Amino acid sequence: MSQTSSQARDGFTSTFGVLAATLGSAVGLGNIWKFPYLTGENGGASFLLVYVIATLLVGLPVMIAEITLGRKAKSDAVSGLMKLAPKGQPWWLIAVMGVLAAFLIMSFYSEVAAWVFAYIFKALDGSILSTDPNVTGAAFGALISNPLQSLLWQWLVLALMGGILLLGVSRGIEAITKKLMPLLFILLLVIGIRSLTLPGASEGLAFLFSPDFSKITGGVLLTAMGLAFFKLSIGMGCMMTYGSYFRADQNIPATALRVMCADLFVSMLAGIAIFPAVFAFGFEPSAGPSLLFITIPAVFASIPFGHFFMVLFFVLSAIAATGAMLSLLEVPVSVVSERFGLSRVKATVTILVVLGLVGSTCGLSNSSLAEFKIAGKTFFDLFDYLSSNIMLPLGGICLSLFVGWVWGREKLEEALTNGGTLPLAIVGPLFFLLRYVSPLLILIVMLKGLGLF
Ligand code: TRP
Repeated sequence: MSQTSSQARDGFTSTFGVLAATLGSAVGLGNIWKFPYLTGENGGASFLLVYVIATLLVGLPVMIAEITLGRKAKSDAVSGLMKLAPKGQPWWLIAVMGVLAAFLIMSFYSEVAAWVFAYIFKALDGSILSTDPNVTGAAFGALISNPLQSLLWQWLVLALMGGILLLGVSRGIEAITKKLMPLLFILLLVIGIRSLTLPGASEGLAFLFSPDFSKITGGVLLTAMGLAFFKLSIGMGCMMTYGSYFRADQNIPATALRVMCADLFVSMLAGIAIFPAVFAFGFEPSAGPSLLFITIPAVFASIPFGHFFMVLFFVLSAIAATGAMLSLLEVPVSVVSERFGLSRVKATVTILVVLGLVGSTCGLSNSSLAEFKIAGKTFFDLFDYLSSNIMLPLGGICLSLFVGWVWGREKLEEALTNGGTLPLAIVGPLFFLLRYVSPLLILIVMLKGLGLF
């Protein structure tokens, strides 16, 4: 989004632009980094199944609700909830928690993005191109255990995001994302096919597609649901903020459905690219956050022109991560600039400086601060856990309750159909899901996952 002034709020101009921006927020490191590593750690197919169910039953309705609230309010998330809620009711606190969540997420997300950016250069010099797990594992270990490199790459990523926001070129990024994302799809497809044709690949497919239900525990349920929130960028006001840039005649459920399908598709492609290779080359599926960075180079090492393709892969991943980070930053930037009247420039600089400091705790989580743990977790793991497993689901409960019990069916219908001009048959089921199903389901999964029930 470019600079917003008080007279005219900026907005998305075309149907395709809306789709591209929303997709740009959803598709990111969540697909190629988080989804595969969590699937690998939590038992494969059974985790995947729970994740898809959570996306359909909870993710999609909450996403539609958030975008609709945002389009109705046409302002930043905090002001928006103040406008829409009855006077004196503190629903805006959801967005305050959202701003906090944005900081926590950006803190570790910018570090993973830092690894991706660094890997573009490692890919270029060819040092990570090997089918030997020891070589690719050691290369990754050397990067993340070096405090100076970790921090410098992270700050470089944050500065780059600042530059993009300040120059107002995020429009340009949207245009680039629009053109290059299909290329990422194709590349993932190529890697997927190669991965599938490796000797021993079928074990990876079985891991991904034949569920073992004994692996589903309360913790696994919560992690899968948290991933569904994280993937669709919901539960913290991000989609509300993007919704505020939607045009009035945009069909929100159709857009949300398309984004959800495309997002699931990219994650599946990433899974098919990674897991057969994991088994073929003898990696550990439960390698955790390092999974992407140690397995993907091995697949490329076994492909003709793999060197070139690997560089391209990390460039495209960096672009996907950028679209997601810009949407995360948009939440605090719009709140600080619209709510507190700071210029967008000042808001952006302030937020990025704070992020540089807070984020460093995650940047150093695998080196200088590796031994510093709270509740057994490094800052990196803690921020990831708190945001995905607690704050986003809690935000989802509150947003569903707000729409289902406070805003009400009539207002939802009016906003969704743009005052009756868009024919929509799904208002009834959507409202039912938001009023009863999502809040209860999220609550039960949270209590089970946290061991309280
Ligand atoms: N969905 C993005 C991804 O998968 C990350 C992201 C962008 C996000 N905006 C968000 C996560 C808002 C939670 C909330 O990479």
